[in-house]
Amino acid sequence: MGYQQILEEIYQETQQFSHIGEPASYIPELTKVDPNQYGICLKTMEGETFHIGDSNTPFAIQSIAKVFSLAMAFHLRGEKLWKRVGVEPSGSAFNSVIQLELERGIPRNPLINAGALVVADILLTELEYPEEQFLKFVQALCHTKDITYNESMAVSERENGFLNAAIANMLKYYGNIENDIERVLRFYFRQCSLTMNCEQLATAFLPFSDHTQPFQFEETKLTSSQVKRINAIMQTCGFYDEAGEFSFTVGLPGKSGVGGGIAAICPRRYSVAVWSPRLNKKGNSVMGMKALEMLTTKTEVSIF
Ligand code: DON
Repeated sequence: MGYQQILEEIYQETQQFSHIGEPASYIPELTKVDPNQYGICLKTMEGETFHIGDSNTPFAIQSIAKVFSLAMAFHLRGEKLWKRVGVEPSGSAFNSVIQLELERGIPRNPLINAGALVVADILLTELEYPEEQFLKFVQALCHTKDITYNESMAVSERENGFLNAAIANMLKYYGNIENDIERVLRFYFRQCSLTMNCEQLATAFLPFSDHTQPFQFEETKLTSSQVKRINAIMQTCGFYDEAGEFSFTVGLPGKSGVGGGIAAICPRRYSVAVWSPRLNKKGNSVMGMKALEMLTTKTEVSIF
């Protein structure tokens, strides 16, 4: 069976879950999005593209941006990065504060909010034009300039981002933020507001799916080992306290966002992006999780 037929079957068979879950409401701007949209795009290493549904409708990628900022910081700092942030799954919510206090300001991993705030701080220290350079990196990964920050999303999140502000303050207290907290928060929220569609996300993740190929986009160059390690972190930490469930049911490295997007890769085969704004209690897209579970079931290929 070809990928297009598989996507069509998945699209039909997941309709039974289409009313389950609610879009994230803690970011007011996200509540303006029609929750019933649903799209999938899959891109193969051989250069083929398959899509279905609302795969060309842009949405805020939210936490999926954490993979891109991690890639930049890993390039800039190399192994020293791990002095500031760990590589262990958190088993906690993406915005948990408790663990950060117990572990004295060292976030468990770069894909939870605390870790991404440290990564944002590193980029602010290292880059001359952080916001422009971050955007250019993602544009280069997608081969298009047609990607922008959603300013009203970023502002909406800053105005209501009390928990993230608490996390940033805790990090600063423990000496794990160098820059002004407000600058770090604003940069982080802009990253989360990045607006892309499934096709662009699948394109951006394709280079992560083959560590044997050179990885260089704008100034960001990763070694084969670094690409593998980013995959390892996505596998173990990409879905917060549902990382085990995603490994169990899907079996691919991936990353979710509260905008309802999920990007995942099947090593040396394909990248895939799914979008449906209705989330489960852990903040991951209900239809997205189901679609990817069906994808690895129907293709009979996962990393295991
Ligand atoms: O910082 C936040 O809470 C959001 N901008 C991003 C959280 C997120 O996407 C978690 N993903 N499932």
